[in-house]
Amino acid sequence: DKGNYRHFMAKEINEQPEVVSHTLANYLDMATAQVRFPDLGLDLAQISRVTISACGTAYYAGLVAKYWIERYARVPVDIDVASEMRYREAPLPENGLAVFVSQSGETADTLATLRYCKANKQRIASIVNVRTSTIARESDAALPTLAGPEIGVASTKAFTCQLSVLACLAIAIAKARGAITKEQEIALVTALTEVPRHIAAILRQDEIYLSVAQELAKARDVLYLGRGSSFPIALEGALKLKEISYIHAEGYAAGELKHGPIALIDENVPVIVVAPEDDLFEKTVSNLQEVAARGGQIILISDAAPEKAGCTPAAHIQMPKIDSFIAPLLYAVPIQLIAYHTAVQIGTDVDQPRNLAKSVTVE
Ligand code: M6R
Repeated sequence: DKGNYRHFMAKEINEQPEVVSHTLANYLDMATAQVRFPDLGLDLAQISRVTISACGTAYYAGLVAKYWIERYARVPVDIDVASEMRYREAPLPENGLAVFVSQSGETADTLATLRYCKANKQRIASIVNVRTSTIARESDAALPTLAGPEIGVASTKAFTCQLSVLACLAIAIAKARGAITKEQEIALVTALTEVPRHIAAILRQDEIYLSVAQELAKARDVLYLGRGSSFPIALEGALKLKEISYIHAEGYAAGELKHGPIALIDENVPVIVVAPEDDLFEKTVSNLQEVAARGGQIILISDAAPEKAGCTPAAHIQMPKIDSFIAPLLYAVPIQLIAYHTAVQIGTDVDQPRNLAKSVTVE
């Protein structure tokens, strides 16, 4: 049932404040602002490496987690798309934790990689939306996302719920290893508990997306840029746009711009920049200026005032001021809305895009 919405995708985007809140409540103790993570059957303090694998959007959630786990817990993370990892014959360490992320819990490549990691003595945790799924059943610990059924082929609410569980996992490992103080834990958990309220505020400012969509609908190619934990959000933005609007889009680490993609830029190529004002912001700004100097149309998604970007963006999506830890959870939302409104503008089948299936159970 779509309720009052035109598409399941719109409904699912708008459900995010509620489902993210439910998911976080499952892994956090709201009263003490501390993490309350289920036992994974191994001592989190002893983990030698985290191996993450998934496909598509779930893979991008894992990529954000790499930034979080390495930064806050100081544990090395290896991550790869499941279709590669399943055949790579990667050597796996003792005391390794393998994490699989899957909305459906039935993705063939992800399941095959899980079995490889299990055969190689990794502890298996999976973040799944369907609790009865094969991936959940074959895991040592299944960590549910409480997104509810996701009908739209383009994943939205499952993604932010996956990020919610992964953020809690990062804090749990950091805490167990003594990599963060109790005060830092409280600060990170408090920031997470504010995510639903911020998402609700982002969802209220919808006019900007209509004008951005009108411009994007005319484009043949779109570039998405981001640095650090915003890089996976840029990749996810490009995937979302190409899936449902059929416009060619690519996500790049902003620093890679001058190693090739800058050659594409002219006044016909919109460049969407995911740029929270964090410790990497100044670096992203210099990439932005390189784009502006070549006439690129910049769509800036940032909490910083546009003057700070040192150029005049064609559009500026104003984001709230937040702890940069939670930025991926919030910046995921504008990129969903951009893709959604662009597809509606073009008139494609938003919930059932051509050639795609909701669950990819064959290789
Ligand atoms: O069910 P899964 O999360 O394992 O699915 C993984 C991908 O097939 C999925 O995220 C796909 O990329 C979506 N269509 C993205 O919107």
